[in-house]
Amino acid sequence: MSMQGGWMALRTLSSDQSVKHARLKPGTLKRIISYAIPYKSLFSLFLICLIADALLAIATPLLLKELIDKGVIPEDRSVVTTMAIAVALLAILSAAVNIVIRWFSAKIGEGLIYDLRSQVFDHVQEQSIAFFTRTQTGALITRINSDVIGAHRALTSTFSGIVSNVLTLILVVGTMLALSWQITIASLLLLPIFLAPTKAIGSRLQGYTRDSFDLNAQMTSTMNERFNVSGALLVKLYGDLGQESRIFRKRVRKVADIGISMAMLSTFFFIALISIAALATAIAYGIGGHLAIDGSITLGSLIAITTLLARLYGPLVSLATVRVDVMGALVSFERVFEVLDLEPMVREKEFASTLQTTTPSIKFDEVRFTYPNAKQISLASLESTALPELNDSEEILKGISFEVKPGTVTALVGTSGAGKTTISGLLPRLYDVTAGSISIDGIDIRELTLASLRSSIGVVMQDSHLFHDTISENLLYAKSDATFDEMKAACVAAQIWDLVSSLPNGLETMVGERGHRLSGGEKQRLAIARLLLKSPSIVILDEATAHLDSENEELVQKALAQALQGRTSIVIAHRLSTVMGADQIIVLDDGTIAERGTHEELVLSGGLYSELFARQDLTTPN
Ligand SMILES: Nc1ncnc2c1ncn2[C@@H]1O[C@H](COP(=O)(O)OP(=O)(O)O)[C@@H](O)[C@H]1O
Ligand SMILES: [Mg+2]
Repeated sequence: MSMQGGWMALRTLSSDQSVKHARLKPGTLKRIISYAIPYKSLFSLFLICLIADALLAIATPLLLKELIDKGVIPEDRSVVTTMAIAVALLAILSAAVNIVIRWFSAKIGEGLIYDLRSQVFDHVQEQSIAFFTRTQTGALITRINSDVIGAHRALTSTFSGIVSNVLTLILVVGTMLALSWQITIASLLLLPIFLAPTKAIGSRLQGYTRDSFDLNAQMTSTMNERFNVSGALLVKLYGDLGQESRIFRKRVRKVADIGISMAMLSTFFFIALISIAALATAIAYGIGGHLAIDGSITLGSLIAITTLLARLYGPLVSLATVRVDVMGALVSFERVFEVLDLEPMVREKEFASTLQTTTPSIKFDEVRFTYPNAKQISLASLESTALPELNDSEEILKGISFEVKPGTVTALVGTSGAGKTTISGLLPRLYDVTAGSISIDGIDIRELTLASLRSSIGVVMQDSHLFHDTISENLLYAKSDATFDEMKAACVAAQIWDLVSSLPNGLETMVGERGHRLSGGEKQRLAIARLLLKSPSIVILDEATAHLDSENEELVQKALAQALQGRTSIVIAHRLSTVMGADQIIVLDDGTIAERGTHEELVLSGGLYSELFARQDLTTPN
């Protein structure tokens, strides 16, 4: 039997059999075919090669029959030579066809992976921020990767496996029957004995596979957690290295043990396959030998049948387990489709207009907002790993109206959880309002293109994210064509140039994972430099100095003053110094506006603001 058939069957046996009973959504098959359509000419050639390969598989035994019956027995040397050469040529041809088949399947498969991956990446990227807060990124990535590969397998190896196995089986059994039905039936009698244990071995292998997947996932997540900067720090400062190592070794040991069991079980499976095929060959020779002596078949037929027999068992095993393979592949496709079908919550309108503005005005009109619930934003098939969240969240903003005049600063203050961050997220449309509207220069932001809206808004948050890359790459993220002078000017204005120029590699210094190489204040100033490069007409600062000590804060304050210069801004800050100079202060309390006015007005009125003011902290809870 062929080794390849055996391996494929083994892989199938060890994969998750539960998919066998999965139910597909109607239309899935049609949709899969639509992915194959761009490759239809490649597919047809692929199919032709598969047919050629199956035909070649039975041609050689038939040539051997001729060689013996028409050459060796009548002692015709020219026939012997011709047939031998023909067999040799066929072997070469068969090798060539197999290379072409592999080429086609790689070409179609990789093309499909390319299509699906780019489509899924684009689509996930378009999802609103709600999706990312809900979904476990790790699980999503693993899922997408394995499903895309599964889908690729569906169109190449599963498809070609079925076609070529069915073809080979029909041709081989047909030819064998034509040569001698007695031998054929006798040698097929062993088949049930052979197929019976595959199920038992399959379920054992499956168990092992599942365990090793789980253990591998645990190992990966341990390494992920321990080997990132924050994790490594925690281990060094608090952890017990010996204990960490013991736990890790225990898992690795288990993986190793499972590996040994799996190797033995699969060897056992193989040896059993090969022995049974050998037994069948013995039976064929036994019965066939007698028939040949009786003269009911020729010697050539006997040789041909036994050669064909060797090509029978591989396809048989593969087809016996084909359902799992097919369903697994289809389910992979379906789960990729599930990701592709997820509509982003925040979408651009058709014929949206471009925002063109230098110093815009902003208006919130009776804005109400409730965070979306889990059902609206996440993938059902990933929910099993997340905590079920049955209740809808309550309304966070309950009718917020205010205006920010061009080029002015509006400060939002209020206790923690009042809804300040939520308000700042609605402006760049991280979420859409549930009711009411937000407009810039009198245009509802839902009428604008997302790109133009977001490029007009610069945000600095409490904890700015930096990519694990050089300082210059992080800056260029805001403006990809920025020159060195522009970057330098932005860094100077953001009070970070002294630091950058003192580093041996200057702008080419790696900032480390999440900017770990930099202090909190330095990170914030770099984020401000990034914002200055972007040069947005609207600036939102959400507690940008909250985590900083006073020395750092002073520098960041200076940088922020630059960022606010001549721009329309919304500032959320806990220090009085930032808020006092604002043109307008809005005091939020539990999703409503409690007070508004200038610092002086609000202090005099003796409301919530004067309370917060007395505490000298404008955003933290009582
Ligand atoms: N992604 C979210 N999903 C559901 N609820 C949220 C989410 N983000 C914030 N909230 C809730 O919204 C309320 C307001 O939060 P936030 O706007 O961050 O307050 P603030 O910035 O004023 O401290 C809080 O009660 C918070 O728990
Ligand atoms: Mg906040």
